[in-house]
Amino acid sequence: TMEVQKTETAAEKMTDRDLSEQIKKVTKDSHVRAENTELMLSFQRGKVTLPQYKLLLCSLYKIYQALEEVLDRNSEHPAVAPIYFPAELERLPSIETDLEYFYGPDWRKKVVVPAATERYCHRLRQIGRENPEFLVAHAYTRYLGDLSGGQVLGRIAQKSMGLKNSEGLSFFAFPGVSSPNLFKQLYRSRMNSIELTEEERNGVLEEAVRAFELNIQVFDDLQKMLLITESSGFSLTKPTDAKTLQVPGAVTSASPLLRIVMGLFVALALGIYAL
Ligand code: HEM
Repeated sequence: TMEVQKTETAAEKMTDRDLSEQIKKVTKDSHVRAENTELMLSFQRGKVTLPQYKLLLCSLYKIYQALEEVLDRNSEHPAVAPIYFPAELERLPSIETDLEYFYGPDWRKKVVVPAATERYCHRLRQIGRENPEFLVAHAYTRYLGDLSGGQVLGRIAQKSMGLKNSEGLSFFAFPGVSSPNLFKQLYRSRMNSIELTEEERNGVLEEAVRAFELNIQVFDDLQKMLLITESSGFSLTKPTDAKTLQVPGAVTSASPLLRIVMGLFVALALGIYAL
């Protein structure tokens, strides 16, 4: 009837609009919240410390391992193929190079991530199996972020930590992308070329909000982990980093044993995984 016809036309108009525009719009608030996490504020203030950055790299390692694994596995899927750009975007090898720089040749044994990172990776593998059409939401959230604010953050990180050249910062560099802005345009047009039913499109938009949320939870967990290393003898990073940390007086005056016990409690509460 007429009524059904009308709502269908309205729905069509909605789905007619570009996915790239819709996804940006629905994640706008989440982006603001992500920017305002303690960890991201440290970056923006030029106050990122080596322990912060190293711990972030560990989580990015697990996240991109999962993300790139599921993208590779679904590269022929019609909703993935248009946005599959491993040569330009792949981050895992860069992160591995950075981790080796900071942690040495046995870095794999030293990777530690909080429970939130495990949840993020679990979600990526789950949709890789069950809803590959949602992967565009995750690829968008990470790669377009890395190609946007990430570029500025790389330079800030270099200054904050006094790193020479770009040692330990290959994560931020995209040698296969000569113009991030032009590439972002191409990426958006590829996103918009994906054919999705209305239901699938809504699923993608929901997943993008979730992707931001997962990132925010990782950042928050990482800050809590850093609090443990700062306030107790519980060491997640090499002792050489300890001197760059500020140790609050109240906690340092506690006995060493008490500090270790306190650190362990927080670690257990966070569900930190050494991998
Ligand atoms: C210090 C923190 C951050 C800063 C300063 C920052 C800054 C920016 C800037 C300047 C843009 C370009 C906006 C535009 O082209 O209109 C951008 C885009 C973007 N950022 Fe961030 N960002 C930060 C954190 C994040 C995080 C944590 C994520 C996700 C995990 C993220 C995801 C994105 C995405 C997906 C875009 C592309 C938006 C689009 O064009 O559709 N950003 N960011």
